[in-house]
Amino acid sequence: MLIGVASGTDALLLAVRGYDLTGCVLTSPFTFFATAGAIHNARATPKFADIEHETFNIDHTKIQETISKETDINAIIPVHLFGKPAEMDSIYEIAKDNDVAVIEDAAQTLCAEYNGKKIGSLGTTCFSFFPSKNLGGFGDGGMITTNDDDIAEKIRILRIQGVTPQVLSSCNWI
Ligand SMILES: Cc1ncc(COP(=O)(O)O)c(C=O)c1O
Repeated sequence: MLIGVASGTDALLLAVRGYDLTGCVLTSPFTFFATAGAIHNARATPKFADIEHETFNIDHTKIQETISKETDINAIIPVHLFGKPAEMDSIYEIAKDNDVAVIEDAAQTLCAEYNGKKIGSLGTTCFSFFPSKNLGGFGDGGMITTNDDDIAEKIRILRIQGVTPQVLSSCNWI
């Protein structure tokens, strides 16, 4: 499923709110400010795991060292930088073992592939169409892709001030 939003920042904020993340969210310290900013603005707390020297993406071994079922971390937001995806197989495995959500920040990674799969098809993913990006919009734009029906429905409601898509489609002005 694909949900259009106003910016990559909104995509992250709505995704974090869609998952009801109120504790700590583990992300990369090497990213655009919007990643940690969206976590903070959704009233969760950003926590950081260090990056790989070769790719500058979050290091899954550092995630493994930081997270456990005893920590208050309830999601991981890996950031795919410069068109290169983070180590998603390991990250999804760690997330499953620790029962936490994953939201991918793919603002800089439109059309990239990870092990033959397009980024955006693995789970819940946020994209940006800021004019400086590979596919730049006029002003800004964003998109969330997800394969979780419940999350998609929640985000669709959150993005328009709580109005359900059913109510919206019954309005004759759209
Ligand atoms: C990694 C990353 N995340 C999030 C964003 C935010 O996207 P936007 O500028 O569309 O709000 C950007 C864009 O600059 C980005 O590079």
